[in-house]
Amino acid sequence: MPDIAFLNGRFLPWGEATVSIEDRGFQFGDGVYEVIRTYHGRPFELEAHLNRLDRSANELSLPRPYSRAQWREWIQRGIEEAGFPEAKVYIQITRGAAPRDHAFPVDVSPTVVMTIRELPPFPAQTRATGVTAKTCDDLRWARCDIKSLNLLANVLAREEAKRAGVFEAILVKDGLVTEGAVSNVMAVQAGTVVTAPEGPRILSGVTRTVVLELARKEGLTLREQFMSLESLYAADEVFLTGTTVEVLGVIRVDGRTIGAGSPGPVTRALAARMTALAG
Ligand code: PDD
Repeated sequence: MPDIAFLNGRFLPWGEATVSIEDRGFQFGDGVYEVIRTYHGRPFELEAHLNRLDRSANELSLPRPYSRAQWREWIQRGIEEAGFPEAKVYIQITRGAAPRDHAFPVDVSPTVVMTIRELPPFPAQTRATGVTAKTCDDLRWARCDIKSLNLLANVLAREEAKRAGVFEAILVKDGLVTEGAVSNVMAVQAGTVVTAPEGPRILSGVTRTVVLELARKEGLTLREQFMSLESLYAADEVFLTGTTVEVLGVIRVDGRTIGAGSPGPVTRALAARMTALAG
């Protein structure tokens, strides 16, 4: 089963899918992206991801060269050609290639890339025991709602987590928890699910929206409000949401045990509901 590469409207052999050294994605991080997963060959929450791609592109005045219908067709074709049981679809749009100058170039076509690769299932054992995390300073810019290619602060935080031997970096700005380096962060406090509100400080995760809806259906109370680091440490449960992690319990943050030290009942219920949804 092949990894699939797509560049500017054409499916290509992987090695031939190359872009210019003057591409603005490469030189400035001047672009946006999406990561979509499949379950049983079907892209999960495709419309929500394409909506966010449109929104991110719009916020950066990036052209959107292809229609929604065209994207749906290409994504489906790529998934079928790849043939993986579960796949990760990566889409990236940059402002294109031009001699280096910060302001937007004129008459330049965007560079549009899609890759489709296998996404091995998240290890069941790790999901059952939960993962650990550490907090890091949230060094990102003031428009984290845009899924832009500028991921340097996320990269540094994730590396810090890796070096500390933990799974995720939980980002903290002005003493408040924003989100994870590659996920949104939720906590359960006395039966209420608490997570940072949508806005410029977080990426509004597609999984976040799905999980909040599942929580509502479970009859849980929701509070979209920033948490202090202290209230995160003191939460009954902490979990991550995201395309790659789905719903994933966090059992230790900065070496402090969360709740009973294993994924709690709300985390497990929401993870089970996610699995059912994906089924
Ligand atoms: N990241 N917050 C950040 C900073 C993220 O990078 C992501 C996902 C999320 C979760 O969003 P969603 O539920 O839509 O996947 C939240 C992707 C997977 C990545 O960069 O690889």
